[in-house]
Order: sequence, then structure tokens, then C-alpha cells
Amino acid sequence: MRSKGTEPKKHDGATIAVLGLGHVGLPTALCLAETGRRVVGADSDAAKIAALQRGECPFYEPGMQELLLRHRNNPRFQLTDDIESAIRAGTILFICVGTPQRENGAPDLSQVEFLAHCIGRNLNGYKLIVEKSTVPAITGQWVKKTVSRHRRHALAAEIKNRTTYGKAAGFDVASNPEFLQEGRAIKDFFHPDRVVCGVETVRAQRLLADLYRPLNCPVLFTDLNTAELIKHTANAFLATKISFINMVSDICEAVGGDISQVAAGIGLDARIGRSFLNAGIGYGGYCLPKDMRAFINLGEENQVDVSLLREVEAVNNGRVRRFIGKVRQALWVMQGKTIAVLGLAFKAGTDDIRDAASLRVIRMLLEEGAAVQAYDPKAMENARRTMPEIAGRLKYCASAPEAAQGAHALLVLTEWDEFKTLDLRQIRELMEVPVIVDGRNLCNPAEVRRAGFEYLCMGRTTPHIERRARRTTLSHKQPARVLSMPRRDADKGTPLVLPLEA
Ligand code: UDX
Repeated sequence: MRSKGTEPKKHDGATIAVLGLGHVGLPTALCLAETGRRVVGADSDAAKIAALQRGECPFYEPGMQELLLRHRNNPRFQLTDDIESAIRAGTILFICVGTPQRENGAPDLSQVEFLAHCIGRNLNGYKLIVEKSTVPAITGQWVKKTVSRHRRHALAAEIKNRTTYGKAAGFDVASNPEFLQEGRAIKDFFHPDRVVCGVETVRAQRLLADLYRPLNCPVLFTDLNTAELIKHTANAFLATKISFINMVSDICEAVGGDISQVAAGIGLDARIGRSFLNAGIGYGGYCLPKDMRAFINLGEENQVDVSLLREVEAVNNGRVRRFIGKVRQALWVMQGKTIAVLGLAFKAGTDDIRDAASLRVIRMLLEEGAAVQAYDPKAMENARRTMPEIAGRLKYCASAPEAAQGAHALLVLTEWDEFKTLDLRQIRELMEVPVIVDGRNLCNPAEVRRAGFEYLCMGRTTPHIERRARRTTLSHKQPARVLSMPRRDADKGTPLVLPLEA
């Protein structure tokens, strides 16, 4: 990103219209503006556009506020609630509208269809229509058909009105799935591992290659369906990694072992990699659960055996119940207990609580008769709106210590850095009973236990390992430095790799 104060860059390439300014569209529009492109950001929500024009971001995303303030008055960056004018202004049109999940798991594509319809009626010159919303394979073909149908209407109207501007208007459809992670969307945009573009013509390929050239990253060109499938496959694979490690975490608990070290041990294998191997309360958010459902649905509709994916989902659905089991194990009776909940967002770095495991945990605690005192650094407002306070039962607090006040247990549900540096002694003094149940393996087990807490986490049976390590020291008379490896490793949560002779 460019530094504050410097003038935004200028790039004379095609104008871009970003249609839909949600978690994908808004970062995309701002980041493209940052690369020097002329960008029109459009959303039919007039209140959202007005807020953006005032410089207010509709959701939290690190670095986004800064970009908005930088480009709000940039004449090459415009915001509008008039979708049709944005379509007419742009040459490359990014479809970034929502594709929410319907009851049967299939995505609701009505917003995509509506845009295709609008684009068809507003073709005033060549357009490259790029799907960025996550859509099932073959959506690109439907977009093409829909634009063509409505384009015919537009052409007929032009002939009738004796206007000619649309006669030569051609268009291409491309698929450019986004891999941006919430909480690091701006960083991901400028430093992607890869960009995937499904194209059908050389013209579309050239436009997209030009667009992404400044990022200096691998750009993979495929056909339309393949690009759509890459997105589904990526999210399904990430979900599979998480459910896999969660299953192994349960085995660690059953037989004794430390899941963080298992993850470190397999993650060092370049074929596997360490990321997305953090055990815990399961994956949530707007994308992974919804995209898994849609992928399962796509397979089932096409008579493909997707039992592997269904199992990944089933493991994930069981995580909250398992976590609640741990809370029960710590507290015995939940009725009448006060429980501090740290973390509401579905992951750190965002204020998004859609499909967050934390909300399911809170609902179950309330059902079991406990009172909840919750705190999150960013997601309080969203949580309050979705799950309003209940006098004497559910209270939102201004800080972690306030949430801990009088609590019989403290639950860690989001991996915010802020929770890693809590003043443990202060928290212990405030609590009625010093118990921590860590759904994210965020805390250092030795440290919290030293601070006087009873500590339960996910798949890290550290004391058992420590005992074993000590026993081995005595029997084999090996240097303590080597034998304390497992303990130090577990404490830091990072692999400690020593040469063999150490
Ligand atoms: C995901 C994809 O990663 C991204 O490429 C795509 O564009 C959109 O969907 P996001 O929804 O932002 O991104 O969340 P992600 O970072 O993938 O995390 C999803 C969930 O998995 C979170 O609840 C997170 O806490 C959980 N998770 C992640 C784990 O439980 N363990 C891990 O090791 C990693």
C-alpha cells in the first residue's frame, strides 16, 4: 500500500465498476483504486453509500478505513447507489453481490441474476462481466445467457427509439473468485498467493492480466467452470484441514498428546503445510460453512458421492457440543453459574459474527441456565444487534476484566491477540472461581496454570507430556535441554527444531 499523504496513482486502463460493496466488493473497489484504476463502487443500499461518502466503513477490516479516507475525495473513485449508471460507466464490471444460503443449502443467486439483467439492459459498449461472488459452477453460463436475453430487449428498444449506441456492444463473462480472508482482506489483495481468472476470450484475458499486473503474482487462467470450481475446492479443502485436525485433537485428548505439536510436526512437511491446522471450536463465518454446503449440494445434484465433505461438516457441527462438554466438565452444574465469554467474532481481525461458534456457545449456556458476560474487541455492536442483552442473563461488557467479574469460568472463543496478554493475576482476583476453558488454544498452559487457574483446552494434554518428559530424563539421563523440548514447544505454540546432535 502507498504511504499516507502521497497522491493516489493514475492508471489509464479500463474503468472498473464494482457492483455490491460488502466484505468482498468494498475492499476490492478500494484496493483497485489504490492501484491507480478509475473505479465506480455501487451498492443499492443508499444509506451505506451515504455512510461511505462520509468516510464511515460499514464493517471493520484492518486498513480499510485508511483506504476509504484516502480515496473518498479522489475524483477517480466514485460511490453511487445507482447500479445502472455504474454499469454504463464501467468496462470491467465486478459482480460482488451476496449469494446467501437457502434452506436446502443451495445458494440464492437472485442478486446475481438481477445484476445480469441490469447489465443486459445497460450495455452501452463492450463490457467484461466478472463474477467475484462465490457461485456454483455453471453460473457464468447463466450470467451469459441472462445478459444476452436482456441485451436483445435493449437493442430492440434502441432500434425503436432510433438510437444506435448499443448495436456494437459485445461482452465477455469471466470468473475471478476471491480468496480474501476477512481480517486481512487488504493485505491479501496486495499480496495474493495467486489470482485465478476463468476466461473465454483473449480480450478478457488481456484485460484481467493488465488489471492484476501491478500485483506481480501468479495469475492462473482457466475456463469459466474450472475457476468457479477452484474457489469451491479451496474452501472445502481448508474446511477439511480444520475438521481433520479437530478429529486428531480429540484423539490427542483420548490417548494423551499435544495437538499443537502434532500440527507443528506435520506442518513442517512441505506437502502438508502448517496453516489451517489450529484445533478448536470449528470453522465459522459467512464463507466456509456456506461454501461447503453449496459444494455438497452441487455434488449431490450431480449424483457425486460427497460423503467425505458431509463428514467434514458433521465434525464441525459437533465442535460446539464438545466444547460445552468441557465447560460442563469444569463446572459440573451450569444452572446459576456466571460465565465470562471472551470473543464473539467468528475469528480474530473482524467484527463479523455470521455463523460464529461463539453465538452457538452462548445460546447453549443460556439454555443450561447460566448467565453470560461477554466481551469482544470489535464485534460487540453486531452481537448486541443479533443477540440483545437479557437482564440478569446476558450482558455485554466493555472489557475482558469486566466480563471476568464474579465469573465461575472464563471461555476463550476468538483468538484475539488482546486475550494473549491479559493480566492473569487481575483476572483471577476478579473471578469467583479461576477456571479457563480455551476453545482456541490461545493461552500458554503453563503460564495460566502458574497464575492459579484450572485450565482446559482443545487437544493439549500438556501435564501428561511434562510428566513423561521428566520420567524420561531420569531413566535415560539425557540433557534436560533436549527433554524439555515438548514443554517449551507447547508453551510457545511454535515448533522448536533442533539439530539431531543437540
Ligand atoms: C475464507 C477463506 O479462507 C477465503 O479464502 C475466502 O475468500 C473466504 O472464506 P474467511 O471466511 O475470512 O475466509 O475465514 P478463514 O480465515 O478461512 O477462517 C474460517 C474459520 O475457520 C474461522 O472461524 C476460523 O477461526 C476457523 N479456523 C481457521 C480454524 O478453526 N482453524 C484454523 O486453523 C483456521
